[in-house]
Amino acid sequence: MDLYSHFLVLCLFSVSSVICQVTEFISIDCGGTSNYTDPITGLAWISDNGTIMKYGKSSETQISNGNMQYQRRRDFPIDSNKYCYTLGTNERRRYLVRATFQYGSLENEDAYPKFDLYLDTTKWSTVVVLDAARVYVKEMIIRAPSGSIDVCICCATTGSPFISSLELRPLNLSMYATDFEDNFFLEVAARVNFGALSKDVIRYPDDPYDRIWDSDLAKRQNYLVGVAPGTVRINTSKYVDTRTREYPPVKVMQTAVVGTEGMLSYRLNLEDFPANARAFAYFAEIQELGANETRKFKLQQPYFPDYSNAVVNIAENANGSYSLYEPSYMNVSLDFILSFSFVKTRDSTLGPLLNAIEISKYLKIEPKTDSKDVTVLNALRYLSAESAWANEQGDPCVPAHWEWVNCTSTTPPRITKIALSGKNLKGEIPPEINNLEQLTELWLDGNFLTGTIPDISNLVNLKIVHLENNKLNGPLPKYLGSLPKLQELYIQKNFFSGKVPSELLTGKVIFNCEHNPGLHEEAGKKMHLKLIVGISIGTLAGLLVAVIGSLLFLRNLQRRTSHQKSEVQGNSLRASTKPSTMYSVSRGWHMMNEGVSYYISLPELEEATKHFSKKIGRGSFGNVYYGQMKDGKEVAVKIMADSSSHLTRQFVTEVTLCSPCIICWS
Ligand SMILES: *[C@@H]1O[C@H](CO)[C@@H](O)[C@H](O)[C@H]1NC(C)=O
Ligand SMILES: *[C@@H]1O[C@H](CO)[C@@H](O)[C@H](O)[C@H]1NC(C)=O
Ligand SMILES: *[C@@H]1O[C@H](CO)[C@@H](O)[C@H](O)[C@H]1NC(C)=O
Ligand SMILES: *[C@@H]1O[C@H](CO)[C@@H](O)[C@H](O)[C@H]1NC(C)=O
Ligand SMILES: *[C@@H]1O[C@H](CO)[C@@H](O)[C@H](O)[C@H]1NC(C)=O
Ligand SMILES: *[C@@H]1O[C@H](CO)[C@@H](O)[C@H](O)[C@H]1NC(C)=O
Ligand SMILES: *[C@@H]1O[C@H](CO)[C@@H](O)[C@H](O)[C@H]1NC(C)=O
Ligand SMILES: *[C@@H]1O[C@H](CO)[C@@H](O)[C@H](O)[C@H]1NC(C)=O
Repeated sequence: MDLYSHFLVLCLFSVSSVICQVTEFISIDCGGTSNYTDPITGLAWISDNGTIMKYGKSSETQISNGNMQYQRRRDFPIDSNKYCYTLGTNERRRYLVRATFQYGSLENEDAYPKFDLYLDTTKWSTVVVLDAARVYVKEMIIRAPSGSIDVCICCATTGSPFISSLELRPLNLSMYATDFEDNFFLEVAARVNFGALSKDVIRYPDDPYDRIWDSDLAKRQNYLVGVAPGTVRINTSKYVDTRTREYPPVKVMQTAVVGTEGMLSYRLNLEDFPANARAFAYFAEIQELGANETRKFKLQQPYFPDYSNAVVNIAENANGSYSLYEPSYMNVSLDFILSFSFVKTRDSTLGPLLNAIEISKYLKIEPKTDSKDVTVLNALRYLSAESAWANEQGDPCVPAHWEWVNCTSTTPPRITKIALSGKNLKGEIPPEINNLEQLTELWLDGNFLTGTIPDISNLVNLKIVHLENNKLNGPLPKYLGSLPKLQELYIQKNFFSGKVPSELLTGKVIFNCEHNPGLHEEAGKKMHLKLIVGISIGTLAGLLVAVIGSLLFLRNLQRRTSHQKSEVQGNSLRASTKPSTMYSVSRGWHMMNEGVSYYISLPELEEATKHFSKKIGRGSFGNVYYGQMKDGKEVAVKIMADSSSHLTRQFVTEVTLCSPCIICWS
């Protein structure tokens, strides 16, 4: 994007009257009704109305504290969806992302909102409003994992989720680089300006990167308590050179606290801790030291063997006064309650000095939904781009899945279900669909899909496929029948043609192919043999014997079969009355009813019986033939010699007695 291709700060620290303009900042006033320029900072704010955020409604807050972005907020529906803002980024560039929340409603509420905030698929924080007047600020330092990021709000446990503002601030060069940035974001827990001249925060334009530096004069519960006696505040108006790594604002470095009795100590709560943290201490000598004066001190608490023995001598470490020294702690484990203290060394004449600190929590980056799967979903969205469902934002699966998909709970998540019945899809089924290896259900029925069925032979987990009521054409791929888990396949009311793969007719799959004029069972062959087949599955050793009708008939047959067993095979065949199953053949492949169902086609039957070559008996309706199915099951096949309707009915009655049965005929 052109907007981000160059970074321009027309702002001088010392000349506050200069109107500053930072072209790369993105500042969204959520719920705001118009775009405007903030008179205090000169920053351009845009309203999220309509173009950026289509969901939720703008509400007025009842607190006017001067900041325009807090006069309105955006409230989101209370439902199971997530609501996301997508912000453009340059991949691998570092940014500060900030979301703020000021509820500002003084009405008597049952409960203030409590909900979750996500950055992409990583849970950032739970926003808990306890004070309607307080601005809750959530800040994250990231190295952009891709060309855009999603800030999502979801999962309200009380009240309705909302947001006041959203800001994206690019950082310079290697600011806040860590050894872990491939896998961790940095959630800012504390950024404190010591010796501040007022309770106000310091941010843009004093900080060209618009970080928010809290004043140590601000009063909050468990915030900077336990101050050591003899702590005094100092300030200077001299320029402090901060051009080291993190570029803290000069104004922050121009104030400090000094432990005149040899010690500096504070205690504060770190939200979402204990955790591993990245911590910075910012020092600059801003007192004039006499020739016989020295300032040397150590970090006494918390005690880190690697750091605590190092003696800080600011002027020496920074190579002079009025110059930044910023020791940092790449990875330290900190508790929820952080107590820290600096103590002067014995040979130092002056007590410790501290200008600022910054502490961030390492937050593990959770993987997004498999990118191959997302590509398929995007291709499907493109088939109905103007529809609301096609514009759901954020990751398809996390933190809440899109309405029309379902996902595995693995990392990364995979798509298990696509439910796009009657969603006005136009065009061809995207060929990339073959990458959705975890897909179990595909519902694309009732659309305007054209073209052929793409290769879906990789979708070995498919169970249910609905393609009916479309304009699909071409042949049915042969492998459809060998998808190992396929249970249901619906393709009626399309324009498919050619031969139905015989595997689809084995009865394993519930298959409906009605109203496809060009589709036939086998090229060139017509089915006109009137035929009903009965089989019974033996309970022992998988042996199958005999046609079943009435018990009498069965017994009769049983005698005949065992009589002829030596002809059939060496093993003894045993008849059984259960469970029995009817095989049958039909033109329309209707499944009739209850129980286990099997289908076999006439060609398969001919193959199984070797063209009805082995006669094993003769019943009251016609000859009985021996056969062996492809899966090894042995069957007895009874052919009706006489097709008079009276006999047919009788035979059908007989056969239906042997429930579970499936009967079809042509
Ligand atoms: C606000 O600015 C954005 C971005 O420049 C633009 O898309 C939007 O139309 C503007 N809205 C109004 C109400 O002017
Ligand atoms: C945008 O603002 C108008 C009034 O200014 C309001 O009617 C509409 O609901 C707003 N849209 C959204 C998505 O907030
Ligand atoms: C960014 O870093 C470069 C090199 O350290 C420095 O010259 C420049 O002033 C920095 N930009 C800002 C806005 O601080
Ligand atoms: C800044 O320091 C000077 C002494 O150097 C002191 O007189 C002044 O009160 C300080 N200002 C504030 C606001 O603390
Ligand atoms: C920090 O250190 C701990 C313990 O040494 C280690 O387990 C962890 O992977 C390190 N990195 C982060 C980002 O926590
Ligand atoms: C440092 O020297 C000054 C005189 O130059 C003296 O007044 C002061 O007491 C000395 N301070 C210490 C700690 O020795
Ligand atoms: C320290 O500062 C002096 C002059 O103030 C300069 O000559 C020297 O190069 C500096 N050393 C470093 C390491 O920056
Ligand atoms: C999504 O899948 C889970 C199991 O993975 C299942 O419990 C849930 O009912 C499914 N939801 C929908 C809407 O299909």
